[in-house]
Amino acid sequence: MKPIVFITQKLPDKAVAGLKEQYEVRMWPEEDTHAPREKLLEEAKEAHALWTMLSDQIDNEVFEAAPNLKIVSNLAVGYNNIDLGAARKHGVTVTNTPDVLTEATADLTFALLLATARRIIEAEKTVRSGEWKSWTPMGMTGQNVGGATLGIIGMGRIGEAVARRAQGFGMDVLYHNRTRRSLEDVRYAGFEELLKVSDYVVILTPLTPETEGMIGAAELELMKDTACLINVARGGIVDEMALYEALKDNKIWGAGLDVFEQEPVPLDHPLLTLPNVTVLPHIGSATIQTRLEMMALNAEAISACLESRSVKNRVC
Ligand code: DGY
Repeated sequence: MKPIVFITQKLPDKAVAGLKEQYEVRMWPEEDTHAPREKLLEEAKEAHALWTMLSDQIDNEVFEAAPNLKIVSNLAVGYNNIDLGAARKHGVTVTNTPDVLTEATADLTFALLLATARRIIEAEKTVRSGEWKSWTPMGMTGQNVGGATLGIIGMGRIGEAVARRAQGFGMDVLYHNRTRRSLEDVRYAGFEELLKVSDYVVILTPLTPETEGMIGAAELELMKDTACLINVARGGIVDEMALYEALKDNKIWGAGLDVFEQEPVPLDHPLLTLPNVTVLPHIGSATIQTRLEMMALNAEAISACLESRSVKNRVC
């Protein structure tokens, strides 16, 4: 009997073709929904490998249900959706997809920063809706990017790639990280200092118990009233109601959000009522090339694990 691989969301044929030659591949048939919890638990009973999405909660209940499971390979660099303690307890390998998404995610981060600063989406809407009546001296004015100060919270590979882009725009780059790095042309700042002096605060840190809710009312209060908060990491790092209040009361100038506590963000979420918020549907790594490279890493990790070869990109 061939080992069983269960994929929780429909992936392109070419991404799964190699695995299909060796294993029994079962895949949730839809691209725009992921396998419901009951289906995941049912498939886990037999699966030797789970190929998961960041929207799947892979917790102790899943590991308990999966006596044959050897690997969970997650289609993301972030893995806050997987209980690593439970994975270790059950002797299951977990892998992610670092490096290949660094440049695409940095591009999107910078695009969101620019779109927020220059009100690109709001401005585009005025053209399509017919609200654009004439050129106006102060119409659709935003904030300067060139020469501004960028504060990066979480200085890993994506942070470095964002810093390189910012330097091309003549920005002054600060970062805050758990550990100080020796990096050229970017300066370490304490957390509070970074919040106080940055024109753009970009969150790139992983979601962990330590970073959950790290940007709340007190932190937003420290920011300049002309500053923008850009979150491309995970929604849970920012207290969304505190952010809503800060934006509504003009304590900060704008926010660009690619991620939310609940995804998709509910349509009645207060943040969606504000004009000074630019929102995207978690597309940090969404380029064709990058997503296919991420999938190739997952497929290789699954094969390596099931063939008892050395597995790259293990997070546990
Ligand atoms: C990741 O890979 O963790 C990103 O959030 C995807 O955009």
